Amino acid sequence: MNVIICKDYDEVSVKAAEIFKRQINGKPNSVLGLATGSTPIGMYNCLADMYSKGEIDFSQVTTFNLDEYYPISQDNEQSYHTFMNNNLFGKINIDASRIHIPNGETTNPAAECEAYEKEIARHGGVDLQILGIGRNGHIGFNEPGDRLNTKTHITALSSDTIDANSRFFESSDKVPTHALTMGISTIMSSKKIILLASGHSKHNAIKELLSNGITTDNPATMLKMHPDFTLICDSAAYSDIHIGIDIGGMSTKIGVVDNNEIIDRCDVEITAGQTAEDITDAMAEVCLDFAARYDVQSIGVGTPGIIAHGKVWATNLPFCGFRLADELSSRVKLPVSVENDAACAALGEQIAGAGAGAENMLLVTIGTGIGAGIIMNGKIYSGCGAAGEVGHMCIDINGIECPCGRHGCWEQYASVTALKNQTAAAAKAHPESILGKLCRESAISGKTAFKAADMGCETAREVLDNYFNYLAAGLNNLIKIFDPQTVLISGGISNEGDNLIIPLNKRLAPFSAVKIAELKNDAGIIGAAALK
Ligand code: F6R
Repeated sequence: MNVIICKDYDEVSVKAAEIFKRQINGKPNSVLGLATGSTPIGMYNCLADMYSKGEIDFSQVTTFNLDEYYPISQDNEQSYHTFMNNNLFGKINIDASRIHIPNGETTNPAAECEAYEKEIARHGGVDLQILGIGRNGHIGFNEPGDRLNTKTHITALSSDTIDANSRFFESSDKVPTHALTMGISTIMSSKKIILLASGHSKHNAIKELLSNGITTDNPATMLKMHPDFTLICDSAAYSDIHIGIDIGGMSTKIGVVDNNEIIDRCDVEITAGQTAEDITDAMAEVCLDFAARYDVQSIGVGTPGIIAHGKVWATNLPFCGFRLADELSSRVKLPVSVENDAACAALGEQIAGAGAGAENMLLVTIGTGIGAGIIMNGKIYSGCGAAGEVGHMCIDINGIECPCGRHGCWEQYASVTALKNQTAAAAKAHPESILGKLCRESAISGKTAFKAADMGCETAREVLDNYFNYLAAGLNNLIKIFDPQTVLISGGISNEGDNLIIPLNKRLAPFSAVKIAELKNDAGIIGAAALK
């Protein structure tokens, strides 16, 4: 198999048209196998252009199309007869009597298919066959799971193909349910085959084609057995590599992500006094280096703060209405998407971590403050740009004053900062306790109360009981609002594992799906890369 990787669809079209031109100029009475669908349209345009410039003469070629819907009248707008006339035959000097397309009007499809197969043989077989590929790996209308040794036949379309082709019809119930198609053995008996693929939606099918196996689950994989088979695809179909960037207060983590796995990474420090432009320059430098070494398709960025109308506002960073996506994109010349960092982490966990498979989930980050990423119906929910500020949900209207200006915000009771304050107060009130002793010996952290409780300290247990009650109160509010499949806990506190999860799930019963997030710092990178 030969593989030609092109930068985009236009290049795929030009490369394919050049192969056709060489074929026809080398053998003017070539027998060509033609395909429909959106993919070959660019190539047909190039061929029509070459014809108009006098570079190719189609007068002696014979054509056999791969397939036609069944049943369908030839003059139906969506018939492949109409398609071929509109996209190629109407623009070149082909002899109409040499055009062959399966007849979707026949009342005897079996006889039509048999006759079609004989006609191909009578012309000495196809010299050059062009193919597109379905998202599920179908070629012609040979669907996954079909027998692969078939000749031209009638076949039922798979639901995936009906869904993909419904874009050409008023609705999916208007897509014909069957088709007449060359079989895999008809296609395989062509002397030369080229398959065109463009766009991300074809990536999985192409990845399987490029892997080792041959399987009826991806009919295109059969083509690897052909002695003269060339795949021409653009980089979006060939590669699923994206850069994910997770901007933090102190550093920016940049990763190259291939199929949701980080394959390369680099951290860039953020120093005091840096402007938004400086930070963007530093990110761009790393991205350009990665883009020179990997076939990167796009960049996704997770940043703290609010993102609205393409602008970012972040309190601890010099982003004040900064057009981060535009600025980075203009430096790196790749598409850039920006989302909130907690939302990216939630997406990362949903794709490749503890939230895998959950269409509706929350990731609650508990650290200095509390934030959340919300996944609704499989997608990030960002509201008007600031959704997820759950740390400022009020749990006591007469409660502790928050720097945001309100009282009783959840993070004043349930963040790690709050736990440290609660630990310090209990240690002061009970200096004789194990907790009191630990607090005198070393700096108080979010771990101190857990450590003392582990050593049997009653005071520490009371601190944690009180803390879990507050944490559970806020989580319970979120569960009542969002009714998620799972709630993941991340941030510093998540290191406590079961010591945190068991008491929380007990307090939240019957809800029992609070879990620790799995991907730690990688979640933000993987989620950002998946913004695409
Ligand atoms: C069309 C055909 C199909 C298409 C395939 C991809 O004659 O045989 O196999 O090649 O469905 O269609 P597009 O190019 O529209 O993505």
